[in-house]
Amino acid sequence: MSPARFILASGNKGKLREFRQILGPMGIEIVSQKEAGFDIDVAETGETFEENAWLKASAICAASGLPAVADDSGLCVDALGGAPGVHSARFGGGKAWTDEQKYLYLLEKLAGVTDRKARFVSCICCVFPSGDVLRARGECPGRILEAPVGSGGFGYDPVFCPEGYEGSFASLGEEQKNQISHRARALAAFRKELENHADR
Ligand code: IMP
Repeated sequence: MSPARFILASGNKGKLREFRQILGPMGIEIVSQKEAGFDIDVAETGETFEENAWLKASAICAASGLPAVADDSGLCVDALGGAPGVHSARFGGGKAWTDEQKYLYLLEKLAGVTDRKARFVSCICCVFPSGDVLRARGECPGRILEAPVGSGGFGYDPVFCPEGYEGSFASLGEEQKNQISHRARALAAFRKELENHADR
């Protein structure tokens, strides 16, 4: 039987909030790695979202002896050949930069570019002390706006407009974002994996 309590291998407050908002109503409890006392910074040396999610979840599971879940995610922009992608958190001036500096840098790179197509990707990896591993992926297609809109969310939310919507992830509101986002889609798939795991 799968537990309904996981340590989230992340120090990102935006991710933590969304994991709780999305998984809470499903009866799945998320404890942050800081709350659990395992606030370690795992080097994201993988070349794919999947690899990095596994690196983070397995490190926290190994340190804690408890089931751990991680999300590796990012924004892939067509006109930039898929960048910043796995490097989204380190884009431009790296982790020292604020989210605002990073998305303004992205807008600068896209100045005068008419192809604004982009997608957010989220890869979830869950590692159990038994060695079992569950994986899930979600994507949200959209476009990069010409200027930031809205003040909600985190990261690149103010400059990303999901397909079929107006405004940005930051102006849609949490409830709406959590219905259509890459993370919402990945977590819905993760929940199914978890149900299958429970039946094993
Ligand atoms: P990582 O998964 O720790 O490598 O970081 C992912 C980075 O991608 C975050 O720091 C954000 O900059 C960006 N990102 C991932 N998901 C979202 C989202 O839902 N909204 C806005 N930015 C995001």
